[in-house]
Amino acid sequence: MKAADIRKKYIEFFVSKGHHQIQSASLIPENDPTCLFTTAGMHPLVPYLQGAPHPAGKRLTDFQKCVRTGDIDEVGDPVHLTFFEMLGNWSLGDYFKEEAIRFSFEFLTGKEYLNIPLNRLAVTVFAGDDSVPFDEYAYNLWHSLGIPEARIAKLGRKDNWWGPAGQTGPCGPDTEMFYWTGEGEAPEVFDPANKLWVEIWNDVFMQYNKTADGTFEPLAQKNVDTGMGLERVTAILQGKASCYETEIFAPLFAALDAVRGLAEAPAERTSSERIMADHLRTATFILADGITPGKVDQPYVLRRLIRRAIREGRKVGITGPFTGKVAEAVIGQLGDVYPELVSRKDVILEELAKEEQQFAQTLEKGTREFEKFIDRVPAHITRKVISGKNAFYLYETYGFPIELTEEMAREKGFEVDMPGFEAAFRKHQEMSRAGAEQKFKGGLADASEATAKLHSATHLLQAALRKVLGDHVEQRGSNITAERLRFDFSHGAKMTPEELKQAQDLVNEAIERKLPIVCTEMSVEEAKKSGAMHVFESKYGDVVKVYTMGDVSCEICGGPHAANTGDLGKFRIVKEESSSSGVRRIKAVLE
Ligand code: ALA
Repeated sequence: MKAADIRKKYIEFFVSKGHHQIQSASLIPENDPTCLFTTAGMHPLVPYLQGAPHPAGKRLTDFQKCVRTGDIDEVGDPVHLTFFEMLGNWSLGDYFKEEAIRFSFEFLTGKEYLNIPLNRLAVTVFAGDDSVPFDEYAYNLWHSLGIPEARIAKLGRKDNWWGPAGQTGPCGPDTEMFYWTGEGEAPEVFDPANKLWVEIWNDVFMQYNKTADGTFEPLAQKNVDTGMGLERVTAILQGKASCYETEIFAPLFAALDAVRGLAEAPAERTSSERIMADHLRTATFILADGITPGKVDQPYVLRRLIRRAIREGRKVGITGPFTGKVAEAVIGQLGDVYPELVSRKDVILEELAKEEQQFAQTLEKGTREFEKFIDRVPAHITRKVISGKNAFYLYETYGFPIELTEEMAREKGFEVDMPGFEAAFRKHQEMSRAGAEQKFKGGLADASEATAKLHSATHLLQAALRKVLGDHVEQRGSNITAERLRFDFSHGAKMTPEELKQAQDLVNEAIERKLPIVCTEMSVEEAKKSGAMHVFESKYGDVVKVYTMGDVSCEICGGPHAANTGDLGKFRIVKEESSSSGVRRIKAVLE
């Protein structure tokens, strides 16, 4: 069965079970400063898992594009990917364990669906711990459906508990389904540590909300969140050892073969080929969602992916531009499923060409410099290190992402003095400690000082806009990186230069007044009574945080924020434009 058939069958199955199909959200999370990318199907649904009514109802299904960069260094082996599609179905306070498990079982084993023989299936359930009991219900249900007890493993929190990448938010125990990929009969007793058993689906029973202080508070509604990785399940059902061997990657490899002038496809793909195909597929999707290569956050991850792919290209003898060819293959293959690939095709190709040209100019020279650093270290030294200063030099002068230098160093048995690099980086960029550390996390969490300040500035901006334009101004979206804020709000007309100046001045006045930023916890009711601005009221738990900045702003918000408006620096609006009908967008910076 092809990936396209599995995707289609999945959606059809859940639609036949009363689910409404929703569209894949952008890879760039809106209103979530804790994650750079959408990492799971549930991610864009967090407000609804926390109780906000979803306009499409209580049963939803979709295929969601996801990016996970945590294992980026592993890409090149046969299993890891940085971009994948996640098939999912959700109950928002509707059905719970019983139907979730029955649906999963029917889809996995049903003749017209995946048609997996029962003797190739095994499951895990939550074993229980001090705070949450053993999931006896799931255990008994799987057993009653025909899974022998020896094929049901009880595992702890490390394996059978799921929460989003951003640390806080909806979470709960899960039950995972495994497929026997070995030859012949599957062993009678399921051993989850045996790598031939591969996880194919995860049903999470979301009953808790993990708060910033680490406590698990029960959610008002019990939800189901499930996730099945399309690439993995495709490979498994085709009996392939790796998703790189499926039709999903075939056109990408063919594009690479054509660039290299290979008459025949190699029997086996190398790690370099996999890295190029994976990274450029991911880059194509990130570009389609409006990000372009740059120095921090998503733009930095994008740059890193493209540059690493280019270097791998050089390793296999590609000397000319090639990234656009792979992107074209991705667009050709998935453009009908993700129309943004087609509508953004020109930008995608243009940006790739630009980035490739820029990096190609410095890659060779930089590599020669790198080799000089290596050669200077005498062979008898056992702990071989590239100094932070030299790593920074490669970064600054030749555009080598630090992770690339680390990888090149590893290949030569060297390590990079990372604290030294960070120190050099800070010195040169005069970045705050928090800002710099954030950057080196490879982009998962982002609660740096810079973003906290921009978060506070967003509150001041909203208050200023309501003063200048009127009370109809409400937040429609917010996206903050360490470099800038982006604020979408309801307003029917283009703002005039005078209005923009007034709004900017009001924010700067509030900054100059050095107002303390005070966080108070109160119930939603109290918060509303106090007149606090709120976006998705039912997204919040019973107790909410209200941030007050003098008499200027009072808003419900999860934070993080600066301590005083006086810490923000100078506020400047850089752009005002239309976002969608009746919604304007402002981009602004703190200088
Ligand atoms: N959110 C769950 C996962 O990503 C389903 O595995």
